[in-house]
Amino acid sequence: MRILVVDDSGETREYLRKLLYFEQNLELVGAAADGEEGVEMARQLKPDLVLMDINMPGMDGITAADIISRELPTTRIVMMSVQREVEYLRRAMQAGAREFLIKPFSYDELMNVIGQVGSLSTPAPAIAAPTAPTEAVAPTPAVVPAVVAAVFSPRGGAGCSTIAVNLAVAVAGQRRAKVALLDFNFRFGALDAMLNLQPTRSIADLIQHLDGQQVDVDLVESVLLPHPTGLYLLAAPPSPEMADLVTTVHLENLLQALRSRFDYIIVDVGTALDDNALTALDAADRIFLVVTPDIPAIKNARLFLALSSGLDYPPEKIVLVLNQDNPRTGITAAAIEKHIQWRFGGVIPSDPRSALGAINRGVPLIMHNPSSPATKGFLALMDQVPEKEAAPAPQA
Ligand SMILES: Nc1ncnc2c1ncn2[C@@H]1O[C@H](COP(=O)(O)OP(=O)(O)OP(=O)(O)O)[C@@H](O)[C@H]1O
Ligand SMILES: [Mg+2]
Repeated sequence: MRILVVDDSGETREYLRKLLYFEQNLELVGAAADGEEGVEMARQLKPDLVLMDINMPGMDGITAADIISRELPTTRIVMMSVQREVEYLRRAMQAGAREFLIKPFSYDELMNVIGQVGSLSTPAPAIAAPTAPTEAVAPTPAVVPAVVAAVFSPRGGAGCSTIAVNLAVAVAGQRRAKVALLDFNFRFGALDAMLNLQPTRSIADLIQHLDGQQVDVDLVESVLLPHPTGLYLLAAPPSPEMADLVTTVHLENLLQALRSRFDYIIVDVGTALDDNALTALDAADRIFLVVTPDIPAIKNARLFLALSSGLDYPPEKIVLVLNQDNPRTGITAAAIEKHIQWRFGGVIPSDPRSALGAINRGVPLIMHNPSSPATKGFLALMDQVPEKEAAPAPQA
């Protein structure tokens, strides 16, 4: 991959030169000190990737990115900035940037972003900047809202995150659908790590934009992190105390915005049954209620099922899932069904080796070990996610 660096700081250009020096597949083909020079060098060198600073004297990085992405649509652009403001992020995304690096960044962060950008096979779909209406605009078909599936367990460590990740990957791959995966464990979310994604953006960047009546859907979408499997992750905030900033109003607005842009939304609700969790459970078309074969989990699942009728959730909204099924525990699926008077909609066998290997490598289990019995369980569970309705045919 041929890389061009555009940054007015000689120090940054030198730092990047050193970082890239020993990389076999990455070649630094040029370094420019401002936007104008950057555009000129991009035209001549036609690099695969441009690492672009935002604030530079003369032509700034966003203007330069805009020109480069128009003239060279296959060149990918990664913005670099010390400013974390989401305003910059949005403008950069509109200008065709595909990723963002916050300075100072480490070698790992750089490689991660280059890896992500490199694995995107299609040119960056620049989020259309608002433009004046042009001739003959095709009629937009009425948008069919996304199907929402929430994964919840009244017991920690039951496997909510594992199930949410694997369901999202399965749906994205098998149904060729646009899937958003939301980490609702705002305090200690870990889906970014489970998917080996650098959490350069998170729900924390959105909070102040989700207060009002008017929500900028483009902005919401631009904060999600693309994963090579085709799903998009909304990561949890970077530090635990930020969890307190998230309110139900934010989440209602968030879900509404994403519903108009995605085919499926999978929410890892986790174990807390608070207002935020209820917002997701209320909005869900299906709730995957996860239990493990142990007495406390079974007892809590039974409590939740009793509560769910008080919440006016119809029984068909809830899919009871047995995770970490293991005949050797002596507690069988049939015995649990009998005890809580509810049938399982899915059973995932226990496979601790694959589950742990997947988590530690940051690869979803169904990809880490396709022949695991747990993989078969996840794929079967996918059938319990209702198919999104087809969009009505456009009027002739
Ligand atoms: N089918 C399975 N077989 C064996 N181990 C599993 C299985 N599913 C998940 N695990 C393991 O159980 C542990 C908890 O999984 P996970 O993090 O998905 O649960 P969680 O419900 O999201 O937990 P938390 O309450 O911490 O959010 C992990 O170590 C994971 O590897
Ligand atoms: Mg979890």
